[in-house]
Amino acid sequence: MIKKVPEDLVTTVELVVSELCTNAVEHTASGEEDGHFVLELEAHPEHVRVAVIDLGAKTDPVVRDEAVSADAVSGRGLLIVDAVSKAWGTEPLRVGRRVWADVVGASV
Ligand SMILES: Nc1ncnc2c1ncn2[C@@H]1O[C@H](COP(=O)(O)OP(=O)(O)OP(=O)(O)O)[C@@H](O)[C@H]1O
Ligand SMILES: [Mg+2]
Repeated sequence: MIKKVPEDLVTTVELVVSELCTNAVEHTASGEEDGHFVLELEAHPEHVRVAVIDLGAKTDPVVRDEAVSADAVSGRGLLIVDAVSKAWGTEPLRVGRRVWADVVGASV
């Protein structure tokens, strides 16, 4: 049976999808000519798992400490993902990497 996902959770999932997909394009080979990425969405009873598979990069996804600086204009994406997820992480793949986040709604 498919349970309806609450509206606040949908909004948060959209935010996380945006941050992780943007990272794939901005920071990995997925953003190069003919690049691509894969978005995975799984609805669970208490959370939605968002995962993005990219084509790899020399950098690793990290929550930037300096992102807390009020005048920083970027470097907040994963800080936001961390704040709205009960867990998130990355796993290397044969080609590229999966970045995943288990997103919870405000009421959970
Ligand atoms: N999928 C990824 N593969 C490799 N490196 C990544 C990936 N996602 C993020 N990173 C690295 O982690 C850093 C932090 O990512 P984050 O999303 O927090 O900030 P940002 O993308 O630099 O800025 P913003 O998201 O605020 O526009 C990035 O600058 C990049 O070096
Ligand atoms: Mg980002």
